[in-house]
Amino acid sequence: MKGIILAGGAGSRLYPLTLVASKQLQPVYDKPMVYYPLTTLIEGGVREFCLISTPHDLPRFRQLLGDGSRFGVTFDYREQAKPEGIAQAFRLADTFIGSDPVTLILGDNIFWGGDAFQRAFSEFTGGATIFGYHVHDPERYGVVEFDATGKAISIEEKPQKPKSSFAVPGLYIYDNSIVQIARDLKPSARGELEITDVNVEYLRRGTLRVCKLARGFAWLDAGTSSSLHDASAYVQTIEQRQGIKVGCPEEAAFRRGFLSLDQLAQVSAAMPRCEYRAYLEEVVAEARRG
Ligand code: DAU
Repeated sequence: MKGIILAGGAGSRLYPLTLVASKQLQPVYDKPMVYYPLTTLIEGGVREFCLISTPHDLPRFRQLLGDGSRFGVTFDYREQAKPEGIAQAFRLADTFIGSDPVTLILGDNIFWGGDAFQRAFSEFTGGATIFGYHVHDPERYGVVEFDATGKAISIEEKPQKPKSSFAVPGLYIYDNSIVQIARDLKPSARGELEITDVNVEYLRRGTLRVCKLARGFAWLDAGTSSSLHDASAYVQTIEQRQGIKVGCPEEAAFRRGFLSLDQLAQVSAAMPRCEYRAYLEEVVAEARRG
């Protein structure tokens, strides 16, 4: 399974924060925002990544993530010259995807709790898997409607009159037919290649699976100054209470077997003395104690 992290867009809602660093590079409590979706996909077992961003921001992502070896993964990079839609990612990354299935995660989506994604990755056999999450403001999202048996029957992008309270979060898993589906897409009325149109096509083909995310699961939005602040406060609360980090890709890579204990120790030893390094050293020490 290949992984795409989409981290472009204008970031205009966070201006002037985004004048020099894009939204997905902003801090969410103690680490850059993109660490959270990266960790989610590493936990799901993804090892080959392609990060897509603007020509202006891509050099900074390369600086931050490098070739991925620090996380036991690989990174390719692709430019998106203009934000012409989430589904454009599959056109830009078609040579990266090759003949494999692929998952796409939005670089500003933060997830926490449960193992729903890990299960979805390991159970994935074909078609498409997306998720449904109960929200109070579904009109801001892709909205999925279910019939009485729990089967998805419609998906609409930002409907004025939502048919349900279930929004589709920014993590999508597709088989390789996504490459052709993305090629055939036409821009919507707002001029974008819509991810919702991709999901509608899988629904039409009868190969779309929608998993409802449980109540205890957190999906945080970090798209405005106040939701960015709320996301930071949420992460701080969990980390201080539990003494574990949310969105720590090095730790996830170790737990997934992408980095050995010795490699994790080397990676942390190369960091400056800081709280993040101390945390990883504790992970190493705990694992050595067994
Ligand atoms: O967050 C989940 C929602 O994301 C879904 O429920 C919607 O179906 C989906 O359309 C999308 O809605 P948004 O209104 O949040 O999309 P937005 O245009 O804000 O883009 C989401 C992220 O993707 C944002 O961080 C910027 C990035 N992006 C977006 C576009 C359109 C790109 O990197 N390139 C793009 O061309």
